[in-house]
Amino acid sequence: MRHPIVAGNWKMNKNAEETEDLLNDLINQLPTDKEVEIIVAPTFINLASAVEHLEFTNISVAAQNMHQAENGAFTGEISADMLKSIGVHTVILGHSERRSLFGETDAIIAAKVNQALKYHMRVIFCFGEELKERQEKQHFAVVENQLRNGLFQLEATAWENIVLAYEPVWAIGTGETASPEQAQEMHEFIRTTIRQQYGQEVADNTAILYGGSVKPDNAGEIFSKPDVDGGLIGGAALKAADFAAIVNAAG
Ligand code: 13P
Repeated sequence: MRHPIVAGNWKMNKNAEETEDLLNDLINQLPTDKEVEIIVAPTFINLASAVEHLEFTNISVAAQNMHQAENGAFTGEISADMLKSIGVHTVILGHSERRSLFGETDAIIAAKVNQALKYHMRVIFCFGEELKERQEKQHFAVVENQLRNGLFQLEATAWENIVLAYEPVWAIGTGETASPEQAQEMHEFIRTTIRQQYGQEVADNTAILYGGSVKPDNAGEIFSKPDVDGGLIGGAALKAADFAAIVNAAG
């Protein structure tokens, strides 16, 4: 059965020293008595030190991206094998910033998902509609397509290693959150779509996180919805006290 997860996507923030400081603050402030899985995703260059730093804690480390190829002439890129070799077993893929700023298509993201799973990594798969698509009432269709094109090539058994993160683009970094009702409506739609494709068990076992301006003061209400299984947190993950409050709201 699925369990609550709160993941912090640090994006391109925190140098080496600041990473260490934030990790220390998290170790001191995050609860250890909650049934909530806690994940942090610092930048690539700080992943190895973060893994080491968090070794005896209840916090695990994810990468924010990876390349879909095995290895080779891909200047500036990082492979699944490299991540595994430093003890990183989870990767965020398909984030809207990767899609919109770095040209990642559904096909590229599907290839990345396949490559991550080949290395037995867990994928936090991000998807969500843009403001215009919601205004035009296309949001369900857009989300369904992203899901189908990015993940429905997988066998049912592969879903053990998939976590979904619905992040409406209009709510990311804007201070504007989907209402708890909007989040629940979409999460329920996502779970239904998975059920239709893969059956009840896969649908029930897949965690669906919400992301987009989650803060300590709105987390509790969003997480109380039956199909919201936690959050993928950006800005508020950079402050230990805020992140700790959000983890507490999920437990
Ligand atoms: P914010 O929480 O800053 O809106 O970012 C959400 C996000 O993009 C997490 O991946």
